[in-house]
Amino acid sequence: MAFEEHLELLTAVEPVAQRLMDEHLERRKHWYHHELVPWELGRNFITEPWDESQCTISEKARTALVLNLLTEDNLPYYHVALENYLPDSSAWKQWGALWTAEEGQHAIAIRSYLLTSRNCDPVELEDNRVATMKAGWHPDWRHPAELFAYTSAQELATRVSHRNAGKLTDDPVAFELMRLIAQDENHHFVFYKGVMSEMIRIEPSLVLEGIYSTFENFAMPGAGIPGFTRRAVDIARAGVYNLRIHHDSVVKPLLDQWGIEKLTGLSSKAAEFQQKLMDLPKDLITKAERFEARFSPI
Ligand SMILES: [Fe+2]
Ligand SMILES: [Fe+2]
Repeated sequence: MAFEEHLELLTAVEPVAQRLMDEHLERRKHWYHHELVPWELGRNFITEPWDESQCTISEKARTALVLNLLTEDNLPYYHVALENYLPDSSAWKQWGALWTAEEGQHAIAIRSYLLTSRNCDPVELEDNRVATMKAGWHPDWRHPAELFAYTSAQELATRVSHRNAGKLTDDPVAFELMRLIAQDENHHFVFYKGVMSEMIRIEPSLVLEGIYSTFENFAMPGAGIPGFTRRAVDIARAGVYNLRIHHDSVVKPLLDQWGIEKLTGLSSKAAEFQQKLMDLPKDLITKAERFEARFSPI
């Protein structure tokens, strides 16, 4: 069935989405990146061109920040995805706008930090941004469960990745900036995870396949970033984000929090997906061990 044919399910969970959004608005305090960026370090790039010797944080920390930034830079495509897939009714529209506004500050903040502190090659960064956006990002969601399983996992993954990238910098300013961004991702995660929980409550047999297909091949939306595989290997080795972290901090907690194992009264097809989902963590650990045997930490 095509995504549009599941409108009823989205309508049924809309009151919960409204409640979660109201709670989000209560809980989240807006922050201002201009209060954190070290503007006093900023210098003219024409009269004083960038050189790697000016960097103040490690190469692996720079790789992590740049990869996280380029992922955030693709926000227009994420916004379009929500616009395309979510219905035109008020709660979904309101959430899409609010979420986009909050996400928008992330790239602005990280870029401002990297440029003022000279912790990235400004030409390469801009060329990478253009290449990333030319590649774009176009998810192919067939069921709302795929959208909400993906966004839940992605927000949680970025929460962990931003937080770890901040720690790796050994710079209190970057640490605080990345902590605040990670906190936003957590707020977003709570929203998407809550909507998914409600879908599971209403239609357990209809959503497990979507959760499984999303988790089975989960990939961050960064494949269009130049050198993505090499950069992803570097941040995996640096302990910013890797398969073990994906297992420990994303997949396992989500399966637990959604109570997948305890679901009963499922159709026989859904019960198969339940079992497949429960088998995923140990597959991930096997893959993590294989990666760790091949690549040493950096
Ligand atoms: Fe973000
Ligand atoms: Fe987010």
